[in-house]
Order: sequence, then structure tokens, then C-alpha cells
Amino acid sequence: MPDRVLLVGSGAREHAVAWKLRQSPLVGEIFIAPGNGGTSAFGTNLAIQAKDIEGLVKAARDLRIDFYLATTDDPQPLGLVDRLTEAGVLCYGPTAAAARLESSKSWAKAFMVRHGIPTAPFETFTDYRAACGYVESMPDGPLVVKADGLAAGKGAMVCNDRAEALNALDIAMVRRDFGSAGDTVVIEERLTGWEASAHAFCDGKTALMFPYATDYKRTGDGDTGLNTGGMGSYSPSAAIDTALSTAVERQVVAPVMAGMAAEGHAFNGTLFPGLMVTPGGLRVIEFNARMGDPETQSLMVRLESDLFAICRAAAQGKLADVTVRWSDRSAVSVVLASGGYPATYKVGYVIRGLDTVDPDVQVFQAGTKQAARGLITSGGRVLTVTATGRTVAEARARAYDNATRITFADMQYRKDIAAAI
Ligand code: AMP
Ligand code: GLY
Repeated sequence: MPDRVLLVGSGAREHAVAWKLRQSPLVGEIFIAPGNGGTSAFGTNLAIQAKDIEGLVKAARDLRIDFYLATTDDPQPLGLVDRLTEAGVLCYGPTAAAARLESSKSWAKAFMVRHGIPTAPFETFTDYRAACGYVESMPDGPLVVKADGLAAGKGAMVCNDRAEALNALDIAMVRRDFGSAGDTVVIEERLTGWEASAHAFCDGKTALMFPYATDYKRTGDGDTGLNTGGMGSYSPSAAIDTALSTAVERQVVAPVMAGMAAEGHAFNGTLFPGLMVTPGGLRVIEFNARMGDPETQSLMVRLESDLFAICRAAAQGKLADVTVRWSDRSAVSVVLASGGYPATYKVGYVIRGLDTVDPDVQVFQAGTKQAARGLITSGGRVLTVTATGRTVAEARARAYDNATRITFADMQYRKDIAAAI
């Protein structure tokens, strides 16, 4: 009997994963909580939010869900995998204890120190005055102030000088813009170099690396403007060579797997280390315990193997038996967002032109909703247009050619995704 699968989230990442799962003969019905205007083409959207653990567990029981595939960050630290496992659902995703790699930056930093994983030097504070005293004792220069907990991608504040760092402490610990996520802060050295996103399927013992992807976090061309959830991505990443990927496996992924198992919370699910390649070598900026958005969109179109079969083998601790095949083609994803995102923006605009997109180009939906008027915008990041090509340049040209056929009022997007690769 094909498995009934649960996804949680409402992004273009979840749409891309649902699209890929639909290709598997092993998958029966797909349920997406809460999903979006696009995911309903591949399964049933459930009106349950990602943090509503009771609601998700009840739905899993009522709907006789067989398998949960974790893609988004919110539910795991709240114990969704622990609870679903108790309820007899096979899960590909970390327990709450293992998800601390992402949900507590101070825990992750201390873990890296315990296991010799390279990362920026740091200090952790729970007291605002002590944190200010530390910043004042440092030379007046660049620092990064991070809220400890999940803060919708906004908790890391990259500061140019002491005044900015003190302001960042005020935002996290006095104004409490990130709520309790800012009760503890990590203050760390600001690294220079270039960034790459590594992903690995993990079964607690074995990790199988995905190809690399690069994302574009800022709103504006040339990496200007505010940090966002991600405005585009491409894969494979241009600057990753064999030496570097070997270093990531040996210095980062293998010690994470061994360290987590040794500490009694083996890591199952997708491990996504955010890396900085510095003149002094590789450094981990952060760990994510789930798939990246919009990296996943560029990766799913390159995955030739059955995603469900891989994740099920990982959930069963049998990843060592699996071979994962990836296409040699390149992929580029361009995010079409509402004007004003990531600050304030309007929603409810009709989206036109989706029917003019080439059949082999994917439009993964995020902030969209089906309405009587047709498909309308309902969020900041609205669509991801993902195209493949023999080269990154070819994929990029096709992604932009197709993106410009789509319109909605106030649409904004970056023009430089995968440019100059
Ligand atoms: P995070 O939420 O930890 O991934 O940080 C978000 C972004 O802030 C990263 O993708 C980097 O661009 C930047 N960042 C975080 N930590 C550092 C650091 N130690 N040095 C320089 N940039 C950083
Ligand atoms: N694209 C970065 C993330 O998903 O966190």
C-alpha cells in the first residue's frame, strides 16, 4: 500500500517537495499543513499551522498518516517528531533534542566546541548588562549579535561597529523583538569570505551529501537591502571543489553525526549547515535541521532518485544501502516577491501568466491563495520560478525569460540571481 505522507509548511519549498513526492509510486495521498495555492494540486491542504503540535498529531491519527517528512523549522523543536513517533508515524526529521542544532544557537555553538567543528569565536549571554560590557570591552569593530532561538531568519544581526552591536543587543534583549528567542544572545566574531549551503540526508549514523546550492539572502541586487528568507538560488555552486566538499564532510558533517549520536540524540533528517569559506578555512555560520528555502527548489529539480524512498530509508536507519542520483544539469530559482517585502507589503493581487510558462519550467508557489477571482498573492515571497539548463547561464536565462511572463501588482525580484557565475 502506498504511504500517506504529511508535510508541514506553506512555502515554495513545500510545493517543490510535494511536486517531487508526487512522482513516487511509493506515495499515496499527500497532506500539507497548511500548504498554499500550489500544494493543493498535489495533495490535500489542512488548515493547521506549523506550530500547532496537538492539531498536527490529531490530524496524523485521524488521517492515518504513515510518514512525516520534515522540511520547515518550526515544528521539530516543539516535539512534533517525538509525538508522531509515539503515535506510530515513521518520521524523517529530528527530535526536539536533535533539533537544538538549529533552535538554540548557544547550544549549537557549545556543541561545535565540544566536537572540534570550526566556527567563529563567540561568547553567550543571558544578562543584557553583561552583554553590553563585553561589547564595550572589545575593539570598536565588526561583530555579529544573534538571538539564541528561532527568529524567522531575522535573529542574526551583522554589525559594523560597537554602536550597532549595542543597538542589536537592545533590539534582542530590551525591546525583545524576537520574544523569548532573544533572552539568550550569542555574540561572535564577524567572518569574511563567501557562503555556501550544504545539505545532507541523515539517518542518525550515515549522511549522504546533496549537491551544493547557493542562496541570495538580501532583497536587492548586489546583495544590498534587508535580509530576507531568500530571493533566489542556484545549484551546483560554482566555487565548491572536491577539496572543499571533502573538508565539509570531514570537518563538519561527520563530526556532527558522531557527536550527536555520542550525546544520545542521533540526528535524523536533513542537516543543512550554513558555511562561510574564509581565508583561514571553513567555518560553520549556523546549522539548520531541515531543508533550505529557496535552495530546495533548485535541488529538487536536480534529484533523479525517488525522494520518498531516500527519506524512508533514512527514517529506518538504512541510508547506507541507498544510492542517490542527481542530474548533471544546473538549476536556477528566482523568487518573485510582493513589493515592500521583507517589510510591509500588500496582498490580494491577481497573479497572471502562469499558463504561459514553459512546461519544463517549474513555478513553485508560496504566498498564494485560490480565490474566486483566480490565484491571488497572500504573502511576501509569492512564487519561485525554477529552470534547468546544461549550464548555470542557460538555466538562468530560462528562469528569467519565464519569470517575466508572470505578473502581479507591485512584483519585485532580483535581477542578479546566478549572474556572473
Ligand atoms: P544565520 O541566521 O546565523 O544564518 O545568519 C544569517 C546571515 O548572517 C548569514 O547567512 C550570514 O550572511 C550572516 N552571518 C551570520 N553569522 C556571521 C558571522 N559570524 N560573520 C559574518 N556573517 C555572518
Ligand atoms: N535559505 C536559507 C534558509 O532556508 O534558511
